[in-house]
Amino acid sequence: MKRWRKVIALFLLAVLVTVGCGSGKEKMETEVQSENEALNQEGRTQPEELNEPEDVPVEGTEVDKSVYMDAGQDVEIRIEALLAQMTLEEKVAQMVQPEQAGITSSDVEQYGFGSVLSGGGSSPSSGNRPENWQERVNELKAAALNTRLGIPLLYGIDAVHGNNNVYGAVIYPHNIGLGATGDLELVERIGEAAAEEVRAVGIQWTFAPTLGNPQNECWGRTYECFSEDLEEVSKYGRAYIRGFQGEAGTEKYLDEYHVLACAKHFVGEGYTDEGVNQGNISMTQEEFDLLLESGVIDPYTAALDEGVRTVMVSFHSIDGVKCHENKHLITDILKGELGFTGLVVSDYNGIQQLSGVTYKEQVRQGIDAGIDLFMEVYVWEDFIKYAKELVEEGSISKEQIDDAVRRILRVKFEAGLFEEEIGGNTEQEMLNQVGSIEHREIAREAVRKSLVLLKNDKIGETTALQALQNAQNIRVCGQKAYDLGSQCGGWTISWEGSAGNITKGTTIIEGIASQIMLEKTISHDLKGEVLEENDGVIVVFGEGPYVESGGDRTAADLKISAADEEMLENLRASLAQKNRQDIPVIGIIIAGRPVNITEYMDIFDAVIMAWLPGTEGEGVADVLFGDFDFTGKLNFTWMKNPEDMDEKFKEGNEDKILFVRGFGLDKNGDILE
Ligand code: BGC
Repeated sequence: MKRWRKVIALFLLAVLVTVGCGSGKEKMETEVQSENEALNQEGRTQPEELNEPEDVPVEGTEVDKSVYMDAGQDVEIRIEALLAQMTLEEKVAQMVQPEQAGITSSDVEQYGFGSVLSGGGSSPSSGNRPENWQERVNELKAAALNTRLGIPLLYGIDAVHGNNNVYGAVIYPHNIGLGATGDLELVERIGEAAAEEVRAVGIQWTFAPTLGNPQNECWGRTYECFSEDLEEVSKYGRAYIRGFQGEAGTEKYLDEYHVLACAKHFVGEGYTDEGVNQGNISMTQEEFDLLLESGVIDPYTAALDEGVRTVMVSFHSIDGVKCHENKHLITDILKGELGFTGLVVSDYNGIQQLSGVTYKEQVRQGIDAGIDLFMEVYVWEDFIKYAKELVEEGSISKEQIDDAVRRILRVKFEAGLFEEEIGGNTEQEMLNQVGSIEHREIAREAVRKSLVLLKNDKIGETTALQALQNAQNIRVCGQKAYDLGSQCGGWTISWEGSAGNITKGTTIIEGIASQIMLEKTISHDLKGEVLEENDGVIVVFGEGPYVESGGDRTAADLKISAADEEMLENLRASLAQKNRQDIPVIGIIIAGRPVNITEYMDIFDAVIMAWLPGTEGEGVADVLFGDFDFTGKLNFTWMKNPEDMDEKFKEGNEDKILFVRGFGLDKNGDILE
C-alpha cells in the first residue's frame, strides 16, 4: 500500500515538473523540494539539518540579568540563563574576533562581538604608549557593556615575550632562550610579570605560550618554542601558563592580576615537511594520530591539566587537510578525548585558507570542525552574515552554535569578565608596572640564565672568559652589539620586529659599558677592525629580526646575516694582520635558533649563544664581567651543517652534530652537569 502511494506521489511530481515553469537551477530546486515533500508523506522525518525557527527573545525584549550577572551563581547556570536570552545574531557575533584597527566602538555596540584582538604590531591610532592602549581597550570594553545583553568583551593580544606591542613594556627572552634556562620558577615569574603589563592596559588574554616542538630549525617560528624535546615543551609550557593565569585551584587563578593563556598552535606544527611554516605534514591522519599518541599531544594535555582555557588552531595541514577544517583533531580529540571545555580560537584569518570555494563554505567548515571563536580580523561582517545564514538554512545546527557560544561565555565567566571593573584600581596600579624596574630585573635574570656557553678554550693558563675579565682595553665589534631591535627579534613593537632603537631598553654594549666603564677602556667598531692596543675582543653577530613565514629558510640559508658574515671575515683578517692570536676573542650570537656557524668557530676562543634576549642587555654583561657564571644549556641539537637536518635524530650521527642538546659550559670550561 505504502509503495503504491509513493509511486502515485512520484507520478504526480513528474507531471508537475513537466508542466511546471522555470529552468536551470530554479527548476532543479523545485524538483528536489517537491521530491522531499513527496517522500515526507511516506512518513520520513524532516532532514535533521533543517532548523526550526528561533523561539528565543528578539531585540527589544526585556532582558533578565538577575541570574547571569549574579557572581554567586554557578557558572553553568549563568551560561544557560544568558544563552536562553540570546538571538541567533547575538550568538554568532560572540563567535567573531575582529582586529581593533578595523572597528569602532559603535561597531562593538551595534554587533556585540565576543572578542577583539590587537594583532602583531597593531597599536591604537592615538599612539603606542600604555595610556593610549588603556584608553582604546577600555573604550571598546565599555561599548560592549552598552549592548542589549551587556556581555563583556574579551580582548586578546600576542604578549609572547612581555606585552611586546606596547612601547616601553619589558621584553623578555623569546621562548627558545627561556628553554635554555632550566629554571621553571623563573618562567612562571616572567608569566606573572608579563600578565601584569597586559592587565595594565585592560587586556585579559594573551595568545601564548606556543607549544610547538620544532624538528627542523629552518622553520621561522622556532624561536617561539621552548625545545625540540616534548617533555621540555610540556614543563616550560605549564610554567608559563601558571605564571600568566595564576595557579589553578588557588585564589590567584584568573584574578585581576592575571590573564588567560592560550595553548597554540594545535597541533604538531613543528613537524611540517622541511620545517615550512603553515606547511603540510606528509602523513596520513592515522599516522599522525600515532604521532600524537607517541607524545606530540603531551604538551597540550599538560597545558589542559594546568588549567589553560583557550587553544588556538594551527595553520598547517596534515595530509593536505588544514587543521582549521579538521573535525577529528578539534572536536574528536581536543574536545572529546582530552575533554577540553574551554574555547577554541582560529588563527589569523585561518579559515580563509580552507578548501571551501566560497567564504560562506569556509565559515561552515570552520564551525563544523569545532572552532568556537573566529579570528576573522576584517571580514567579521561577512562572518556574522554567513554564520547566521548557515544556521537558518540548516547547514550548521543550532546545537553547534550553542556549543561554541557556551564555551566563549564559560571562559568569560571563569575569567571574571562579568565582574570586571573597567579601568579599575588594580589596573591603575599595574599601569605603573609597565616597564618597571622590578620587571626589568626579572628579564635581566632570564637573560643571564638563558646564555649558553658553547666554547671556552684556554689562552695560556686561563680560559678565554677568565682572560676577558682581566683584559683592560676591550673592542666590541658588530652592529648587533648596539641594536635593541635585533636583540628583541620578531613580535616586538611591530609584527616582524625591526633593527634599531625601537623601544626602551639596554643594548648589549650599553650593558657592558655600564659594568666596566670605570675600570677599563671600551671601544666599538662596526666592521670588525681590531686595534693594536686591544687585549680583548667581543663580537656580536647573528640573525636580523623576522617573524612566521618570513623567517623560513632553506637549509643552505640557515646562517647569520650577510653583513655579519662580512664583518667576521674582516675580523679574521684584522686579527691575523695584527698577529693578535693571544687575546681572548669572544663571539656572542643573537639568533632565534641554531644557525650554521661551523666555518666561523675557529675565529673565537669562546662562543656564547644569547638567543633573542629582549630589552635587558645588561644580563649579558652580568655574566661576562660580573660574578655570575653560565648555567644555560641547549634545548636544541645544533647541527654542523643544517643540510644534515634529517640526520638529527638518527643513530650514529655524532659526526654531524656540533653541539648536542643539553650542552653548555661554565667559565672554567667545564661541561655543565
Ligand atoms: C599567528 C598567531 C597569532 C595571531 C594573532 C598569527 O599570524 O600565527 O600566533 O596569535 O597571528 O596575532
